[in-house]
Amino acid sequence: MIVPLAAALNSCRLYPGHHPSIMQHTTEALGSLRLHMVQNKVVIDAEDHNVLRINGVSVAVDTAEAKKLFVKLRQRGIARIIFGKGIDAEELKGFFLALSSSGGAFGTFENIVVSSFRKTETTEQEPSLADVHEIAAVRRLYREIRLYKNVDMPNVDGIVGGIIAGIRKSRDLSRLLLPDSAGEDRFYVHAYNVAMLSVLQAEHIGLGNALLHDIGFAALVHDAGKTMLPRYLEDRHDSLDEEGWKLMKKHPVYGAALLSAIKKVPVLAAIVAFEHHMKYDGTGYPETRRHAKKLHLVSQMVGIADWYCALSSDLPHRKPLDPPAILGLLNAMAGREFDPLLVDNFVLAASVNR
Ligand SMILES: [Fe+2]
Ligand SMILES: [Fe+2]
Repeated sequence: MIVPLAAALNSCRLYPGHHPSIMQHTTEALGSLRLHMVQNKVVIDAEDHNVLRINGVSVAVDTAEAKKLFVKLRQRGIARIIFGKGIDAEELKGFFLALSSSGGAFGTFENIVVSSFRKTETTEQEPSLADVHEIAAVRRLYREIRLYKNVDMPNVDGIVGGIIAGIRKSRDLSRLLLPDSAGEDRFYVHAYNVAMLSVLQAEHIGLGNALLHDIGFAALVHDAGKTMLPRYLEDRHDSLDEEGWKLMKKHPVYGAALLSAIKKVPVLAAIVAFEHHMKYDGTGYPETRRHAKKLHLVSQMVGIADWYCALSSDLPHRKPLDPPAILGLLNAMAGREFDPLLVDNFVLAASVNR
């Protein structure tokens, strides 16, 4: 993969920006990047001692072209580049032209994140292209459901696969959860984070990959019914009047109906959409005559995840609580709103260091 990237960079050095050779090499480099995407991205690390790492795998820098690429990255102080799935030839060409120049600001790219050596040495959170992609993928999932009553399964596989890989690497909630977002994206970030925490609990119980996939999917779409409510309800979630709440409380029923009408959606997703606001002690909504302790295990895990995410998010009227404070509150609710065994499981799952 290094050779086509190096060739594109070289053509930018040799020819003026509009020369067809640049676009030809860039297109080849783009094809190679797409072939090497893992979880919708390619990560290139330029480490010391003439070693480049592509998606974590070391590649010897032993050809002239590869050396030029390596040296250029080092000259520009670049420690890491992340290429995201949405990248196109124009954007990649802009990146190579910026890289081939002798210095100055790098500019910003929608689907490429460049980190300097100095930045990776700090603990400061980097702007994460991966985050942007996850949000875009969840947005796409909801759009398909709402407009076309359809689900693009490879898109879901990508999101849930990334979640499962993430929790197997680290249990640090501050790393796993996406940061709060403003506007419409807040809804998608919430869906993603609830899925992350639901899969975390399910994996800790010991469930296998196939089940984790369905649980991740169900958790991602637990609030699908909200897409059938007037938009202002979500925007004013914290200051709804009685009428607004009446409508809001219909989202589990709407969600279950919407999801059960889509063939590709596992039945579990409709069950979770219906039950995620029903509580262990019989409170919550929708009100049914069914014994609350018969709630589906996954609905209960998603309910805990949903509750956690609500307390950890930054809202206009309330600052987010930190993880220890939320876990303390959760422990106090064991046996009331939440099943005590599932509370224990959540606390343990979130506390294991990896
Ligand atoms: Fe909900
Ligand atoms: Fe929710």
